[in-house]
Amino acid sequence: MKTITIGITGASGSVYAQRLLAQLNENPEVTRIDLVISQAGVRVVGEELGLKVTGTDARVVRELLGKDSDKVKVHSANDIGATVASGSYLSDAMIIVPCSMGTLAAIASGMSRDLVHRAADVMMKENRTLIIVPRETPLNAIHLENMLKLARLGVRIIPAMPSFYHFPKTIEDLVEHFTHRLLDHLGVGHSQKTRWEGSRKTEGRRDGGMER
Ligand SMILES: Cc1cc2nc3c(=O)[nH]c(=O)nc-3n(C[C@H](O)[C@H](O)[C@H](O)COP(=O)(O)O)c2cc1C
Repeated sequence: MKTITIGITGASGSVYAQRLLAQLNENPEVTRIDLVISQAGVRVVGEELGLKVTGTDARVVRELLGKDSDKVKVHSANDIGATVASGSYLSDAMIIVPCSMGTLAAIASGMSRDLVHRAADVMMKENRTLIIVPRETPLNAIHLENMLKLARLGVRIIPAMPSFYHFPKTIEDLVEHFTHRLLDHLGVGHSQKTRWEGSRKTEGRRDGGMER
């Protein structure tokens, strides 16, 4: 049984967060999901997914998932008194997806300016699993140094980079394959059908695409 915290920030790639949230919500291994969306995250989710989200109440779950969920607890990014702001509240893992360079810098410098930063800081101080999915291109030296700093502290840096060895045919294929990789790192099981099993499995499948 797992409890997971998801932070969504104002980097491009909201669709990864939407898909991951849906996968975690459907998974019986996951009993609770704490969701925090930064102010910029609300804006980018709106821009990229065409949703009108508030980011601060349960309606955002309906907007992202297309239905309500008792499993998902939404916290305002301004609520620094929320449960996830304290180390005494147990969370097995936190993932920030997508993670902006601003949030990356705030975490790397210990500046807990909003609940996403604070919850991440708590995960690090409590020596729990923190996964960051940074998204920016190109990367400058500050971005790279911040990632290196966090990687050296045990934070998993999993850049939002889709792969192509499974012959995706649609954007959904790309997203799904990537979120399955995130589930692997969260220690949550899934019915991944696109694991690399050596070249033979994919021979002659350039027109075939993913098994779905
Ligand atoms: C449509 C849109 C896309 C953006 N994409 C990125 C991005 O990919 N990476 C990034 O670091 N910032 C991106 N930004 C800028 C961040 O949203 C901005 O730096 C913000 O202050 C980050 O705040 P946050 O970390 O609290 O979410 C984007 C902004 C907009 C409006």
